[in-house]
Parts: sequence; C-alpha cells; structure tokens
Amino acid sequence: MTDPTYILAIDQGTTSTRAMIFDQHADVVAVDQIEHQQIFPRAGWVEHDGIEIWDNTRKVIGGALSKANLNSGNIAAVGITNQRETAIVWDRRTGQPVYNAIVWQDTRTQKIVDELAANGGVERYKKTCGLPLATYFSGPKVRWILDNVEGAREKAEAGDLLFGNTDTWVLWNLTGGAEHDGVHVTDVTNASRTMLMDLSTLDWDESIAADMGIPTSMLPEIRSSSEVYGECRPGVLKGTPVSGILGDQQAATFGQACLEKGMAKNTYGTGNFMLLNTGTEQVPSENGLLTTVCYKVGDQEPVYALEGSIAVTGSLVQWIRDNLGLITSAPEIEQLALTVEDNGGAYFVPAFSGLFAPHWRPDARGGLVGLTRYVNKGHIARAVLEATAFQTREVLDAMNADSGVPLTELKVDGGMVVNETLMQFQADILGVDVVRPKVAETTALGAAYAAGLAIGYWDSTADITANWGEDKRWKPQMDERERERLYRNWRKAVTKTLDWVD
Ligand code: G3P
Repeated sequence: MTDPTYILAIDQGTTSTRAMIFDQHADVVAVDQIEHQQIFPRAGWVEHDGIEIWDNTRKVIGGALSKANLNSGNIAAVGITNQRETAIVWDRRTGQPVYNAIVWQDTRTQKIVDELAANGGVERYKKTCGLPLATYFSGPKVRWILDNVEGAREKAEAGDLLFGNTDTWVLWNLTGGAEHDGVHVTDVTNASRTMLMDLSTLDWDESIAADMGIPTSMLPEIRSSSEVYGECRPGVLKGTPVSGILGDQQAATFGQACLEKGMAKNTYGTGNFMLLNTGTEQVPSENGLLTTVCYKVGDQEPVYALEGSIAVTGSLVQWIRDNLGLITSAPEIEQLALTVEDNGGAYFVPAFSGLFAPHWRPDARGGLVGLTRYVNKGHIARAVLEATAFQTREVLDAMNADSGVPLTELKVDGGMVVNETLMQFQADILGVDVVRPKVAETTALGAAYAAGLAIGYWDSTADITANWGEDKRWKPQMDERERERLYRNWRKAVTKTLDWVD
C-alpha cells in the first residue's frame, strides 16, 4: 500500500454533497458531487432528507476515490464542512432521523422566535451568543421538532435523541453510527450558529437551552475545528482519522487565507456570506451583522468574525430556472443578462426567507419592482444578478461601519464568481476591487486544511497563506453618481418588500 498522500474533504452543502481530494499543494485531485432533494412542504418551509444526505456522502466519497484511482490507504485524514444551522434530530439507537432536516432557510419557527423575543426583545441572547433571535439559527428549529413530532420530547428527555447540524450527522455516521457508537461532536464554528453556545466559554449555555426547551443531553460535544475527533468505522474510509470540521462559510474564510485581523471574504453560494476576521476579539455589531466563531485550531485561542449573511443569491438563479423556466441551466443567466444594456429600471429583492443581514426582517417577502412594458426577460436576468451585488453592498457598508476600517478589496469565491458580468458589476457597486483566487474551491479546501493541520500533513497556517494565489481582479469602472443612483433605487425597492406577513 502507498503512503497516505492526500486529504479528503466532505462538503455537505445546501443543494449538494461533494467529496474533494487535495494534495499537499492544495491542488484538487478529484471531485464527486450529488445533488439532493429540496423539499418544500409549505410556503416558507424547507427540508432535506437526512438519510439521503448520508447516502450521498458515502457515494461521493467512493466516487472521488475511484475517479482519482485511490483507496482509503491513500487518505491521510478527512475534513468536514457543511451548510450551517440546518438541524437534524435522530434516534441514537436506530440512527433514524425523527423528522426531515429543517434547513437554515426555513421560516416556520417565526412564532417560537416571537414568543422568545416577547421577553427581552430579539437581541435578548446577543451578548452571549452573538446572534439576534431569528428563524435562521438551529435552536428554534430543534424546539419545533420537539414540540411537533409525536413522542419526540419524551424521547429527548430520556436521552434517546441526538441533535446535530449536518457536520455532526455526517461525523456520527462516518464514525460508526448507531451500530458502533458514532462520535457525537461538533466544532465551535457550527456550535456558534445554534444560538445555544456562549461565545466566550465556547460551551453550551444551559439557560438559553432551558428557555428554548432543549435538553442539553441531546447536544453534541463542542470541540475545536482542527483535531482528531475519531476514526471512520465502516465503509471505504475505515481507519482514517476525521480531524477537521468548519461550517462552510468559516471553511471558505480559512481556505481563502483570511487568517489575519481585518481580512475578509465573500462567498457566492445559495446565499452570500461575508466574513471579516476580527482576531481573538469578539466585535459586537451595531449594524445588523453577526458575531461568530471564525475558527479554532487545536488548543490555540479562538478567532472570531463578523458576518453578513444574505439568504438568497445563487438560489434566486435556481428559482428563475426551476420555478419560472426563464433559463434551462444556471450559467445561462449571464447570456440572458447580456442581451440588454442595463436593468431597464427593474429591481428584484429576493426576500424569500425574509431579509437577513443587515435588515433582519422576517416579515419581508420577495418583490420585483420598477416594471414597465419596456422590461423583458433580459432585464429580469440582469435584475437577478444585480440583486446579489446590491445585497453585498448593504453588508459591506455595515461591515465598514462596525469595524471602522473600510475594506479596500474583497476576496470572493463560490459558484457565481465565474460570472464575469456579475463580478464587474459587484466591483462597480462596491467601489472596491474584487479578487478571485486561483483555487475557487475554498470551502472544501478550508476543511481539508483544518484536517491536515491536525495530523501534521501541513505544518502551520503559514502553508495556507503560501498556497493562496490571485487569479483575477475586477476594478470599479462605474461613475460614482451612477453607482449611487442605482444603489438608491435598490434601497427604495427593499422598502417595498417589508410588512408582507400578517
Ligand atoms: O448559513 C448557511 C450557509 O452555511 C449555507 O451555505 O453554501 O450551502 O449555501 P451554502
């Protein structure tokens, strides 16, 4: 058998699960990816099937290994990165989820959130966990499952149910599941999105858990982002250590080498997520951003971040494809947008899950405004792309206001950064350079780095910085007055989408 020379990263995302194999230079050796079903039982509800996600995880691991012609003996360690906040509750004896995973975009917990906010307001727990009360986070989702699935609360109180985000679900199954007593662990970055973790102690806050009616016995143990959690038990990777976990946005920050205070990245995925490394200091936001854990390598001090989360960006392109049929594949949005010169006056505010940062308006719903008979589908395609750039501008402005030091350039990654039209418009609307790295797969790479560092495959985070290289830079070309005119119109459009929920 050859010596292990690669790291395998599992990226369990909102729309798909991927396995990627990296070598020591951070080059991608193989990728396998499978999409999973998006389940929309009612307006505002979004679910995933936990069993499907685990099946797909196993398949993509096998697929990536076979594409690279490798076996488990070639893999030094496994890292996991994941869609954050999405909550799964399962029976520790059978390994069966008691309900579908409730996805981060799901808004069904609004009533629970309102009830909790009635006593102390939405910022009630912000000092402890860095987050405002919102449907986005895991705590209220777990509460909903315990309140609504027959018998769940009794079982949870008896210690028979486990909660996890998809990192924990994948890790528990990889390390043995029900049959071999899988490891029930999460990392600090994922835990920081539940509303249940104290950002200072990095431990569960019993009083918040009690307010939410969540028995702490069902919560995973919180560990660092880079250490050996356990070994894969059954299946293709038997005996391989799992040694890195980072929520996907934190993983992208790590993979983008934003390792110093003041460095930021923006990922263009289902939604957009901008994270600014604030070093070992927790910076409370005054402008609608979240305070979150960025990463914690082994015994080192935790590093924190300010985050601007936007719920809908790439998923608006999917919606245009799947629900309206205006395009047949996501990349076609760019060709369609290029059939016109500008947005023709149309603005699309995709408040499908309410509005996240910096507004936090659960009562908002999507709107397409500024329409005249002049507007055609090219203009709508342009409005779709521009929505991503405008929402990013709102978050960047909030970040500049919170940190007091304006960002001079923005590192970008994720699926939409291949779209040149969007990237140029992004630089134009922000008025700063937009920079894409050579390895665009920064999310999976970040998890691979976390896993590799824990076992000495890479020596230190200096290797991450050394491997980072610039691929392309977009400079602002738009006249300042035009930039501000468009942005003013966008802000007006946002006001039209508020107060839609009775
Ligand atoms: O907070 C949600 C985020 O982690 C989802 O990321 O890339 O799956 O859209 P993505």
